[in-house]
Amino acid sequence: MSAVKLAKDVYWVGALDPALRRFDIILSTANGTSYNAYVVRGETGVAIIDTVREEYTDTFFENLKDVAHYDEITAIVLNHLEPDHTGALPELLRRAPNATVYISVRAPGMLKGLLKQDLEFTPVDTGDTLDLGGRTLKFLNTPFLHWPDTQCTYLQEDGILFPGDLFGCHFCDDRLFNDLVGDFRFSFEYYHAHIMRPFKEHVLEALELIEPLEPQLIAPAHGPILRDQPMNYVRRYREMSTPRLHSEIGGDEKTLLIFYISAYGSTARMAEEIRNGASGVAGVRVSLYDLEGGEVTPFVDLVEEADGLVFGTPTINGDAAKPVWDLLASLCSIKTQGKLGAAFGSYGWTGEAVDMVEARMRGLKIRVPQSGMKIKLIPTDDELADCRSFGASIAKHLMGQAEPRKLDFSDL
Ligand code: FEO
Repeated sequence: MSAVKLAKDVYWVGALDPALRRFDIILSTANGTSYNAYVVRGETGVAIIDTVREEYTDTFFENLKDVAHYDEITAIVLNHLEPDHTGALPELLRRAPNATVYISVRAPGMLKGLLKQDLEFTPVDTGDTLDLGGRTLKFLNTPFLHWPDTQCTYLQEDGILFPGDLFGCHFCDDRLFNDLVGDFRFSFEYYHAHIMRPFKEHVLEALELIEPLEPQLIAPAHGPILRDQPMNYVRRYREMSTPRLHSEIGGDEKTLLIFYISAYGSTARMAEEIRNGASGVAGVRVSLYDLEGGEVTPFVDLVEEADGLVFGTPTINGDAAKPVWDLLASLCSIKTQGKLGAAFGSYGWTGEAVDMVEARMRGLKIRVPQSGMKIKLIPTDDELADCRSFGASIAKHLMGQAEPRKLDFSDL
């Protein structure tokens, strides 16, 4: 494949990777991906926007030589520093000695970490521009899409947006343009769900910058180039990034989810009484889920928009039960920071599971304001009353009504 023209003096010079079946460990890529890099030529300068994965360096230079000489290149714009877009950078720097590197204001520390060498660069922020002579690149600082360093670059005169990973997908088709390739809707949404989902708030902030531009063409770092109805993809991103549950419920109501698994019914009894206690606090909507009767994916959707999470598990061989770990392990694909958490469970002789679940929640930046509740074997009536109090306490924490914790100075 050779360089592909997007507009007058604007070219794709990327590489196709049709054999890739897994990306970044976590993403399935059933028909591969592409690493999209671009060239923009002005009257006084030539800019390269992103490069490719290192293994495709030769392909990148094969395509680049079709449309630019190395000594013409005045700018290398890196929208994102992840190695799938900077793999050819060291060689490009050697071949293009007249080029200045432009990176986002958040990128310098990461650039040094990636290249392990000192490098001259120019950090750019929202509103900064680069004049190529009749062609103007305007920079938009759009961090955390999906690394802290990410930015978008907009070619003003042509209305072309180069958004890095944003609006991208792992879909490999040498016809390149969205009106020519196969049906990539699933890949587009899958990519958002697995890459952008934890950063929805940042996506919405970026869309505030992008939507007023109404780009005529969107040239992402992976997958098809969006030239037909590009704003449809922008609108879909807004839909996928907008919280649904709270906008429908409205008001100050908080949602509390209790997930549990139980071997002989004791942890289930605790869960029911914790639910009853929490439900008595006005403004909290409490739901109870037996992990034995559900699947992880819809539970992750629920957790994403919940305010509080409570996990109940017995201790089995010194560990929490696997369904609890399965759900907790899947929460890295959503934002959990700031949610409230608690744990409980029945145990036979040691009871470590509750502490382990609390530690995992803290690792996910979930607030755990009170110690978990453990009951040895079968709960008594008094202990079930304690469960109700525990549930009420969690709900009050959620509503900001909890008593401030008393400080104990007795050990000082
Ligand atoms: Fe395609 Fe985040 O790199």
